[in-house]
Amino acid sequence: MPGTSEQITRLREEGMAAIAAARSESDLLDAKGRFFGKKGAVSGILKGVAALPVEERKAVGELANRTRAELESAFDARLAGIRDQERHRSEGRERIDVTLPGRGPMPGHRHPVSQTMSEIISVFRRLGFSVQGGPDVEKDYYNFEALNFPPEHPARDMQDTFYVESAAGDLVLRTHTSPVQIRTMERMKPPVRIIAPGTVYRSDSDITHSPMFHQVEGLAVDRDITMADLKGLLTEFCRMTFGPTKPVRFRPSYFPFTEPSAEMDIQCVICGGSGCRVCKESGWLEILGAGMVDPTVFGFVGYDPEEYSGFAFGMGIERIAMLRHGISDIRLLFENDIRFLSQF
Ligand code: FA5
Repeated sequence: MPGTSEQITRLREEGMAAIAAARSESDLLDAKGRFFGKKGAVSGILKGVAALPVEERKAVGELANRTRAELESAFDARLAGIRDQERHRSEGRERIDVTLPGRGPMPGHRHPVSQTMSEIISVFRRLGFSVQGGPDVEKDYYNFEALNFPPEHPARDMQDTFYVESAAGDLVLRTHTSPVQIRTMERMKPPVRIIAPGTVYRSDSDITHSPMFHQVEGLAVDRDITMADLKGLLTEFCRMTFGPTKPVRFRPSYFPFTEPSAEMDIQCVICGGSGCRVCKESGWLEILGAGMVDPTVFGFVGYDPEEYSGFAFGMGIERIAMLRHGISDIRLLFENDIRFLSQF
């Protein structure tokens, strides 16, 4: 059947041309489908061979089989070629340029509040104080009662407290680090010289107040300790932390657990003392409360107030970090903005 042989020869040429023209694996598969795949034209002819007259069957069958084999091997060769080209192209794209400078990991560093906290701890360690801790979820007894805030006493309103639900109803998120004073005095006999750094919580929020902040408590109890020791220590601490020329001042104040009590201010670094939004136009920023331990507190821990006296102080770490770095809003410290934090 000359017609069929010519048809096969034409299919061979067209198939070879399509394979040669293929630029991708999908072009190739397309050519295979059309010409010699299961449903391709050559396979179609092979399926029809049985219907041909006997004398033609052999010649047409052989030609069609040979053509399919040739197309298959041309397909395989082109496929290998296309894959090779593709590999070269991607190697070119991914080639490592060893002369480029390395990309270093982005180094992190400690948060400015942690840095300030560590530095304060190291100043007090050098001044002879050891470090004590206490729980963040504290008993009302330690946070208030043993510090001479009786239940229902209006002095409790000084601190907006987060109460914690509990069966006995006696738990709070500690509002200050002062409960560590009581816990320490219960454990130790005088002389006591400790600091207690930690996290504290109050329902407070504005540019100088945060609901979660940090304090460092200090407590010294011994024979003959006076207010002069307290003033001398805190003045020296400020010299070491803010430099010798930064103006500081003490103001009389009130805390139920100290008598007399004072607060210490540092000249506002934002306005240099002339008055601004941060210092509420006063020119000063309060950094700590302090005073001589009230004899009533000694009563709670079994110290004899006739024999011993002591002083205590509690400072706000965020305030000190703000003063050291000239930060005008406490909330910036907790927004976790890397552009802000990486400046310190
Ligand atoms: C107290 O917390 C007393 N326990 C301090 C004390 C200790 C007095 C020992 C006497 C003896 P006060 O509430 O003033 O005091 O807080 C102390 C410091 O914490 C403040 O001077 C201020 O620097 C800081 N502070 C208070 N509230 C906040 C707040 N919401 N956010 C950030 N800092 C605060």
